[in-house]
Amino acid sequence: MFSVAIDGPSGAGKSSISKAAANQLGFIHVDTGALYRALAFTALKSNINIHDEILLKKLLDSTKVEISFIDGEQSVLVNGENVSGKIRSEEVSMGASNISKIPIVREFLLGLQRELAKKNNVIMDGRDIGTVVLPNANVKIFLTASPEKRAERRYKQLLEKDEKKEYNDILEDIIKRDYQDSHREIAPLKPAEDSVLLDTSDLSFDESVDAIKNLIEEKL
Ligand code: DC
Repeated sequence: MFSVAIDGPSGAGKSSISKAAANQLGFIHVDTGALYRALAFTALKSNINIHDEILLKKLLDSTKVEISFIDGEQSVLVNGENVSGKIRSEEVSMGASNISKIPIVREFLLGLQRELAKKNNVIMDGRDIGTVVLPNANVKIFLTASPEKRAERRYKQLLEKDEKKEYNDILEDIIKRDYQDSHREIAPLKPAEDSVLLDTSDLSFDESVDAIKNLIEEKL
């Protein structure tokens, strides 16, 4: 099986770019952020204090997370319920960043991610795919863009959905989440030593997809 690890900060376009490249290459695309989001959503719904290790462990013990693909589209199921439509709020974003710092949570999701790469040609995106989850991935890419560019793209995305949020607030959230994701003790966001850095600040969406496809095709 052929595996591609794509890591990088939030809002760099990892998931949409990876998904388009995977569709064109006939690979599956796994958005691992959605797994952390699904657990954050579950913890928020059950109203537990995630820093209470006993309660969190109990919650994980009674939680089954699965991924299914319908027409190449990933869905995340928690105990059989498709939660994909409920995990994109700002509250769940910050919850995911918080819960992803906890070692037993990362451990809980590791097996599922590795199993998917064992059975499929995969483009997997996240924060620690090239460093921890798939250290032997065939291609490793660190995909980034300046915080300002990422904030600008998010601002436009929200406007398209008729949601208005101040640009400066978006930028502040991005900077805060970057800091949190790259300064945690376990599996922090950082480029794998053998990764290729791809900065999409000045690339269009299609140019970014082509750049990734080229890097993969060189190794196929
Ligand atoms: O990619 P995303 O924004 O959907 O991810 C949500 C949060 O999950 C992010 O703040 C960090 C965490 N995450 C992680 O720690 N490791 C991953 N492989 C993917 C996401």
